[in-house]
Amino acid sequence: MKINTYIYTFGCQMNVRDSEVIAGLLVNNGYQITINPDEADVILFNTCSVRQHAEDKVWSELGRFKKKDKQNRPIIGLVGCMAQNYKEKVFTRAPYVDFIVGPNDLRKIPQIIDNLINQRSPLTQLKIWQTNGTWRPEEIYHSGFYQDKEHAYVIISEGCSNYCSYCIVPYVRGPLRNRNYKDILREIEEAIDKGIRKFTLLGQNVNAYEFDGINFNKLIRLVNEIKGLEEFGFITSHPKDATEEFFKAISDCQKLKQYLHLPVQSGSDRILKLMNRGYTRGFYLSLVDRYRKIVKRGSLSTDIIVGFPSETEEDFLDTYNLVKDVQFNNAFIFKYSVRPNTEAEKLPDNVDKKEKERRHRLILELQKNISKGLNEN
Ligand code: 5AD
Ligand code: SF4
Repeated sequence: MKINTYIYTFGCQMNVRDSEVIAGLLVNNGYQITINPDEADVILFNTCSVRQHAEDKVWSELGRFKKKDKQNRPIIGLVGCMAQNYKEKVFTRAPYVDFIVGPNDLRKIPQIIDNLINQRSPLTQLKIWQTNGTWRPEEIYHSGFYQDKEHAYVIISEGCSNYCSYCIVPYVRGPLRNRNYKDILREIEEAIDKGIRKFTLLGQNVNAYEFDGINFNKLIRLVNEIKGLEEFGFITSHPKDATEEFFKAISDCQKLKQYLHLPVQSGSDRILKLMNRGYTRGFYLSLVDRYRKIVKRGSLSTDIIVGFPSETEEDFLDTYNLVKDVQFNNAFIFKYSVRPNTEAEKLPDNVDKKEKERRHRLILELQKNISKGLNEN
C-alpha cells in the first residue's frame, strides 16, 4: 500500500515551488500525494520565517497535533525556512514533530520518511534533522511535478547574498547560487512538452543572475525565444542591480509581462542605509523614471517595511511621500519584525506596536486610493 503524504505550504512562491519539488521527489520514490490531510500517513509543513507572524501561524497549526497520542497521529515533518531557523529546538517546542529538513536538504526527505516508517516503534524516540546541506542536485527540478496545468514556477537562483539588515533569508536559504542557464531552459522546455505555456522565473534577487557570461538580461532574451512559451514574468528584482539594459530587455521581450516588482522598503536615506539596501531614495526615484520611459505602459509594484528600528515620523513621511510620488500599481506593506541572527536584531526594536500599526494603516490607505485611481483610468 502506498504511503499518503500531505504538504502544507506557507510563505512565498519559492516555497510553493519547493513543495512541488518535494512532491515530485516523493512520487518518484513510490509515495502518494493526497489532497486530504485527514487521510495522510505523513504530513509535511513547508514553512516560512520571514516575519514572526509567519512562524506563529505554523506553531499554531502544529499545535493541533499536541493532544493526539503517538499511535494516532501521522508522521510529522517540518521543512523549509523554520527548520533551518530553529534546527533541533523544534523538537523541544513541538515534541510531536518527527523530523526537520532545511531548504538545502530537500532531496533527503524520501529517505528520511522511509527510515522513520521502517524503524518506528512506540518505544523509540527517533528524531531526525538535516540542515547542513549547501546544495541542491539539478535533478530535483526535473521531476515534471507542477500543480498547475498552465503555469509553472521555475527557480533560477537559490539563496541570497545581499544581507539586508532585517532579512533572515541568507541565514535560512544560504548564499546566492545561480542555476546553469542551460538547465533552466531545459526545465522550461520539458514543462512545455507537458502542455504548460506560462512561466514565472523565481529568485530572491533575479536581476543579480549570472552564469557563464549569461546575465539576467540575456537570460530573459533566451527565455523569450523558446518555442511554445506564450507568456512569462519574474520575481523579485533588487533596485541596486537594476540598469537601463535591464529595462530595455524587459521592453524588447514580447512574451514578457510588462511588469516589475521593485521593493523600495523605505523612502528615507537614513533608514535605507541602516537596512543595507545599497541605494538612496534619489537613485530609486531615478530608476522609476527610467523604467517608465523605457518600458512603456509597464506596471510597477513594491514592498515596504514600516517601523524599522529608530524610524522617526520624518523617516516615515519620506516613505509615505515616496509612495504618493511614485504611484505604484500595487504595494505590499509590512510591519518590521525582528529576525534572529540579522544585523538589525542588534538594534532596539523601538517603534512601538501601536505606532507600527498606525504607519502601516496610513500607507495601506494611501496605496488603496492610488490603486483605485489607476484602475479607473
Ligand atoms: N520584517 C518585516 N518585513 C520583512 N520583510 C523581509 N524581512 C522582514 C522583516 N524582518 C519583507 C520585505 C520583503 C518582503 C518579502 O518581506 O519587504 O521584500
Ligand atoms: Fe520564502 Fe523568505 Fe519565507 Fe523562506 S523566509 S519561505 S524564502 S519568504
